[in-house]
Amino acid sequence: MDSEQVLFSFTDENFQTEPETVFASMREKCPVHLTHDPAPHFTLTREEDVTRALRDEKIWSSKYGPGLAFSEPGIGVLVSSDPPEHTTERIAISRIFKPSVIEKMEDDITELVHELIDSFEHNKTGDIITDFAAPIPLTVMCWMLGTPITHIEQFRRWVLKMAAAVSYPGGREASDEVKNAYHDFFAYFGAHIEKRKKAIESKGDYPEDLLTRLLTVTQDGHALTTKKILGFCQFLLVAGSETTTLMIGNILHRLMENPEQFDLLKKNHALIPNAVEESLRYDAPVHGLFRTNNEKVTMHGVQMPENSKVCMMFASANRDPKAWDNPNTFDITRDIADLRNHASFGVGSHYCLGAPLSRLEGTVALKAIIERLPKIRSNGPPIRTNAGVLKGYSSLPVRWD
Ligand code: HEM
Repeated sequence: MDSEQVLFSFTDENFQTEPETVFASMREKCPVHLTHDPAPHFTLTREEDVTRALRDEKIWSSKYGPGLAFSEPGIGVLVSSDPPEHTTERIAISRIFKPSVIEKMEDDITELVHELIDSFEHNKTGDIITDFAAPIPLTVMCWMLGTPITHIEQFRRWVLKMAAAVSYPGGREASDEVKNAYHDFFAYFGAHIEKRKKAIESKGDYPEDLLTRLLTVTQDGHALTTKKILGFCQFLLVAGSETTTLMIGNILHRLMENPEQFDLLKKNHALIPNAVEESLRYDAPVHGLFRTNNEKVTMHGVQMPENSKVCMMFASANRDPKAWDNPNTFDITRDIADLRNHASFGVGSHYCLGAPLSRLEGTVALKAIIERLPKIRSNGPPIRTNAGVLKGYSSLPVRWD
C-alpha cells in the first residue's frame, strides 16, 4: 500500500508511454497513491473507489475545479460547482445538449466531414489529426458559440495551452504561454459576448445557439454573470474540442493497429457505434480529473487530509479487471450497453453533457473514413499530445490509395 512502490505522476515519461502498466501497478499495490510531483495530490485508480467517490459529492467537491491547481471557488459553472448551484445550472444548460437537439446536427456534421475529406483526399497522404480530427469538433464549437469558423486555428492554439495547464500546479498562471492564451481568449470572447448581448437587447439579428441560451437563461430568477459565461465558454472550448479530436485520432490509431478489427468494421458498419465506445473505454481521452475532499478521508489505510487534491482516474477504472472481462483486449464486438458503463465521460452528476455530441461526431467521422478512405494506414510514428491528463496524438501520419 506504499506509494513509493509505484512511480506515478502526469509528468513522468514512463507513465505517458505506458499508462496502463502504471495503472495496473497502482490498482494492485497502492490504490490510494500519493505523489508530490508536480504538486501534492492523491490518485484513486480502482473502478469501485473512483465511481463511489464520484457519486458522493458531499465529500468529493468540484468547487476548486477539475484541475490540479486550486481554482477560485464560486466563479465556475457546472464542472467547478457543487449542488445546489450545480443542479440548477445543469437543468438550465442541459436542454441545449439533449440527444434530440444534437441529432439534428447530424446532416451538418456529415457535410462538414465530407468537405474535409474532399479537401485532402487527392494528396494520398496526410496528418489525420490536423487535417481531420481537429477541425471537426472546433467547427462544431463555432456553430454552438456563434464565432466564425475561420478562427479555428487560433482557438486550437489557445486550447492546447489551456488543456496542458490542467495538470500544472499553477493552473492559469502556470507560465507566460498559458497566461497569454487565457488573456487572448478572454479578450476575444469578452468582445464576442458583449456584441451578442447588444443584439439580444436591441432584438436584432442573432442565432438561437448555445451562447444565446447562456445569456438568456435564468438561475433562481437571476441571469448568469458575464464572468461565469466567459468561464463556461472557455471550459467548453477545451472540453468540447480537444477531447473529441483525441477520441477520433485514438479510434483510427487503434483500428489501423488492429487490422482484423478494422476489417470486421468495414464488413459490418453496424459496429461503428461499438467501435467508438470501445475506443472511449480502451483509450480514455481524459485519463482523470480532480476532486477536493471536504473532510478527512481514510481509504485502504491511507489518510487524505481535508482539502487534498485527489485525481479520479477514469482510464484506470476502464481497465480494472474487477469491472471488465479481458480489459486489455481491444474488442469492438463487446455489448454496447455494457460498454457505455465506461468512465471516460465521468460518473455521477457531472457526467459529460457533450457525450451525445462527441459520440455523434465520432460515428459520423468513422463512417466517412470507412466509406471514403478504406485503405487508410499508418505512415510513420505518431506524436503524443503534451497535455498530461489527456491521452492521444497531436500528429498521426497516414496514407491511403
Ligand atoms: C470524447 C469527448 C469528451 C470526453 C472524453 C469528455 C469527458 C468529460 C468528463 C470526464 C467530464 C466529467 C468532468 C468531471 O467529472 O469533473 C465531462 C464533463 C463535461 N463535458 Fe465533456 N467530454 C467530451 C466531449 C464534450 C463535448 C463535445 C462537450 C460540449 C460541447 C462537453 C461538455 C462537457 C460539460 C459541459 C461537462 C460538465 C458537466 C457537469 O459538470 O455537469 N464534453 N466531460
